Amino acid sequence: MTKNINKNVHNTGLSGIRLVSNFIKKPANEVIQLTVGEIDLPTPFATKQAGIKAIEQNHTKYTDNMGILALRRIITEYAQEFYSETYNPVTEVLVTVGASEGIDLAIRALVNPGDEVILISPGYTAYTQAVTLAGGVPVVVDTRSSNFRLLPNQLEEVISEKSKLVILNYPNNPSGVVLSSQELAELANVIKKHDLYVLTDDVYNRLVYDKDFAPSIASVPDMKGRTLVLNGLSKSHSMTGWRIGYLLGPESLIHELYKIHQTDVGCASSISQEAAMTALTVDRDNPSEIVPIFRERRDYVLKRLDQIGVGYIKPEGTFYVFVNIEKFGINSLDFVKFLIEAADLAVVHGSAFTEFGEGFIRISYAMDLSILKEALDRFQAAVAKLNNQKSLS
Ligand SMILES: Cc1ncc(COP(=O)(O)O)c(C=O)c1O
Repeated sequence: MTKNINKNVHNTGLSGIRLVSNFIKKPANEVIQLTVGEIDLPTPFATKQAGIKAIEQNHTKYTDNMGILALRRIITEYAQEFYSETYNPVTEVLVTVGASEGIDLAIRALVNPGDEVILISPGYTAYTQAVTLAGGVPVVVDTRSSNFRLLPNQLEEVISEKSKLVILNYPNNPSGVVLSSQELAELANVIKKHDLYVLTDDVYNRLVYDKDFAPSIASVPDMKGRTLVLNGLSKSHSMTGWRIGYLLGPESLIHELYKIHQTDVGCASSISQEAAMTALTVDRDNPSEIVPIFRERRDYVLKRLDQIGVGYIKPEGTFYVFVNIEKFGINSLDFVKFLIEAADLAVVHGSAFTEFGEGFIRISYAMDLSILKEALDRFQAAVAKLNNQKSLS
């Protein structure tokens, strides 16, 4: 072939998280994998039953492209609990194929080639990839000096004539940081001053430890016209495989995103949408029910890390802990390879979350306590080996 493929596609890398599985040479059951952002607990019972019933009742056809209207009504009612804005179920909600589709729609609808998109760093990998695919330019803000909290002056510093969109994600993957309403209001001032759009990825908003839910920039007054809210059921209701996400925003934006969605997927799965209706009504409190389980796991992991003597960012939300490995003097990818080889334990290297995640690893503690105990035993043994090697050299 003499013709090249699309240069944006060609220039886009693969997710660093998936890269880790390439290093695992042993059978999967011999290696503890604390890598993927997926809850071990099953989808709630009533939600599963709703999916089964949807199939039995032949609700297996295309739905409205925007999503089943009854589901959109449920989503807007549900969202009222967390956002001070209200959204019209007919025109201001779009049901997507996971939050992942929502990221792509928002970026593709807003970004022209060469437009800059501001990303907090370290941050979730899909944003960089989606921006590059759209021909935009990812501009990463290094938040290491502020304990991974984006400060208004850090945001100001990276804004240019070409800036178009800011993507926020608090509770944050990978750091677990949650911003306060006050911090978000200050960021909103900068965003308004420079007339930027904002996508707030709130998929972990109910998995927080010290509050009922995490505040969102979407609730800051006068932000609705420039804000797209992204959420979904993967994390809140253990529904990663059902692929249901949703976007909330002003009609003028949702209408544009809808064109891409209609072309790409038509609609989200009818069966999953039926199940989502039950998830957000009968099983509405599932996130509050699982938070105590995650708090226990988090506290156990942090206690063990303290005993082992490694630093970390204390997660205020999500089910990840970002662990500082700088003192071992090797880069995060080599550290991960070492853990796999020496201890049959897989975690994600910090550099998978942009270059400013270097010096850290991300441990996902969405696993049963007994598995976490074994994982931390293995981690402790591997760290002891590394320390020995260092003292001998
Ligand atoms: C911050 C963030 N946004 C979006 C997603 C994608 O979620 P979904 O499964 O709904 O596509 C993830 C998954 O790990 C995530 O961590």
